[in-house]
Amino acid sequence: MASITVPHSLMLERILSLEIVRVTERAAVKAARLRGRGEEKAADQAAVDAMRRELNNLPIDGTVVIGEGELDEAPMLFIGEKVGAKGGFKVDIAVDPLEGTTLCAKNMPGAIATIAMAEDGTLLHAPDVYMDKIAIGPGYPKDVVDLDAPPGENIANLAKAKGVKPQDITAMLLDRPRHADLIAAVRKAGASVSLISDGDVAGVIHTAEPDKTGIDIYLGIGGAPEGVLSAAALRCIGGQMQCRLVLDTEERRERAGKMGIKDPRKKFQIEDMVRGDCLFAATGVTDGRMLDGVKFGDGIIETQTVVMRSVSGTVRWIRAEHRRLEKF
Ligand code: FBP
Repeated sequence: MASITVPHSLMLERILSLEIVRVTERAAVKAARLRGRGEEKAADQAAVDAMRRELNNLPIDGTVVIGEGELDEAPMLFIGEKVGAKGGFKVDIAVDPLEGTTLCAKNMPGAIATIAMAEDGTLLHAPDVYMDKIAIGPGYPKDVVDLDAPPGENIANLAKAKGVKPQDITAMLLDRPRHADLIAAVRKAGASVSLISDGDVAGVIHTAEPDKTGIDIYLGIGGAPEGVLSAAALRCIGGQMQCRLVLDTEERRERAGKMGIKDPRKKFQIEDMVRGDCLFAATGVTDGRMLDGVKFGDGIIETQTVVMRSVSGTVRWIRAEHRRLEKF
């Protein structure tokens, strides 16, 4: 029988695509233990600790490029921190151990633990600032929507490309005062607006499956770290995304400059934020539209995770039952 040679890097990447599930599962369970307790920082810290511990068990030589903040403000999983059992595959890592800290603290839907991983030097190093985003799912002509186009034009073009009326389009946005004009413009264009209180990584991912989620387009300003994470997810499942960092002060422009961002007005496409193949995983902390939250049963903990690989475009939905509870 002929033997098939799988390149070492591809083998490792395949193994890692399952290993990272463990990383987000552990972070999600730790955060979920603190659901509804009003303690955002404690829940976030629990997720960070668990994620860091698991990352340090992986056969990788990893650098955190999107993390809990810059060195002086984040004791763990800070931007630039090295993680992994060393001597392994060199990777860039983007983490948000608890995306939706407020959702978790208030036990509201949509908190997740999430990570993206890619070959080193291929993920955008972004400072922890705001980012303006527009995202749609797969199957549309390139640049059918544009970050710099008026919202009404984007809605009209998207509706035309989908073969529906603007009234049949639903846009998702974070419910923030800064979005008042954008929300009004989207509604004026005829589209429906679905507001979320937090969690725009999942918000962007929703656009990839409009038939299931009812969301056609994601718009508005959220965190830059979340922007890179959601770009990684769309790189795996398809879709378009354009983003621009909000570098509205000299201090922010300087921080971005130190991370290699020369043009503060640059409009990033997915390929600029994730310049090669990547892995993405997210585990539900609280129940949400995308993922079920952690369930604590009698001698058993259940988790649900989605894990994606851009190389193959595979999306796996993994329901896990954990019985060795001392590990959690
Ligand atoms: P945290 O988990 O860091 O609180 O982020 C939640 C979130 O809603 C993100 O999904 C989003 O990108 C960002 O906050 C928006 O920031 P702000 O709450 O300042 O508008």
